[in-house]
Amino acid sequence: TGAGFMRVTMSELKEHNTVDDAWSAFNGMVYNITAYLPFHPGGEDELMRVAGRDGTKLFMLTHSWVNLDYMLKECMVGVLVRG
Ligand code: HEM
Repeated sequence: TGAGFMRVTMSELKEHNTVDDAWSAFNGMVYNITAYLPFHPGGEDELMRVAGRDGTKLFMLTHSWVNLDYMLKECMVGVLVRG
């Protein structure tokens, strides 16, 4: 194991697409967004659009000024890898 990030493949990411178990990737990092869903100012439904997916494009289109890494650092799962 060691001190590296957990590696998450795209197919693994896709499996986490429900409200109770929602992962999303932003800028190459994977986050568990479940705990944040009720707090999202844009609403749960908007955020659930990127559950199980790479949300980078939608995030950048809606609010590129939001500091996601800082807000969700406790929710980081690992790094997105090919596969
Ligand atoms: C608003 C965080 C993902 C859609 C906001 C705001 C924050 C935030 C802090 C308030 C921004 C402001 O007022 O300046 C986040 C975080 C995300 C995320 C941490 C990732 C985990 C998304 C995604 C979408 C989205 C993927 C679209 C599919 C929106 C919309 C608003 C908003 C539409 C505006 C709500 C309004 O002002 O009425 N989000 N967001 N967000 N977000 Fe997100």
